[in-house]
Amino acid sequence: MMTSDQLPDYYNWLSRYVQLTNWLSYHDRFAAFTMHKRLGIQAAEHAERRRTAGLEYVNGRLLALARLQPGPRVLDAGCGFGGTIFHWQSRIGGRYEGITLSRVQLAVAEREARRRGIADVCRFRVQSYDEPLGHDFDAVVAIESLIHSPDLDRTLPHLAGALQPGGVLLVLDDMATCGLDRHRPVEADLLRRHWGCARYWTDDDYRDALDRAGLLLIHEEDLSALVRPRREEILNRLELTYSVLHRRIPLPGARTVISAYLGGIALERLHGLGDVHYRLLVARKMGG
Ligand SMILES: C[S@@+](CC[C@H](N)C(=O)[O-])C[C@H]1O[C@@H](n2cnc3c(N)ncnc32)[C@H](O)[C@@H]1O
Repeated sequence: MMTSDQLPDYYNWLSRYVQLTNWLSYHDRFAAFTMHKRLGIQAAEHAERRRTAGLEYVNGRLLALARLQPGPRVLDAGCGFGGTIFHWQSRIGGRYEGITLSRVQLAVAEREARRRGIADVCRFRVQSYDEPLGHDFDAVVAIESLIHSPDLDRTLPHLAGALQPGGVLLVLDDMATCGLDRHRPVEADLLRRHWGCARYWTDDDYRDALDRAGLLLIHEEDLSALVRPRREEILNRLELTYSVLHRRIPLPGARTVISAYLGGIALERLHGLGDVHYRLLVARKMGG
């Protein structure tokens, strides 16, 4: 069973692995600075940047929805390699803080900020979003990071507290449409064991917790149609192979990557069944 104190190491290994796959695919360890889901995007405007189109789409879509004035102050709560920050900063300027649990991600993000000459306005640190965050951000963005929150009623008030009145919180994540522990116990168990999800939050859990945190939901969008789950027989075959490898391979790094694949297969299956949706929620802090 994976626990939340194992998440930093988990993301350290996954981040090394992502760099390795970037290098194998593109001969560039830093080919992409994003580690969220790749979406099935074929938009013409992204044709020249096909390899990152499915990744960049999310950053562009969230930026459009945030409706920020030029030069905003933004916190990325679970920033990974800093891809969202680099995308937004290049489009509208501003000052950014990115927090992550992984020191490998931190090193990559800081290196890229220096390479771009923006290290003074894009700062990164290893910190949990459940620790004090500051309080005058125009936007807080959380892409595929709140799935790890052990308690939305702790995390969301915290993120709301980081916003100034009128500021926006943008959350993009996989959200269950039903209680997975009850309806899909096998997949819920796989996600707990392999992704460290203490509890799998439903979209209603998010809406209720946003409301309790004093945030007004102003936009909802379902991006599930862009998630392309593979066929059940393929998932079954892969799950069998990865389970055997996970039992037999003693190396911690390899086991972590296999674990991530096993959790990913459970999630893909839940997407295929319609029990999980990929949802985007935008909420405004009242009083602005
Ligand atoms: C799937 S990655 C997504 C990264 C990034 N948002 C992106 O789109 O590429 C999840 C991120 O959430 C971060 N994370 C998970 N739990 C966290 C916590 N309690 N506090 C801060 N970051 C957290 C991880 O360190 C990792 O950077």
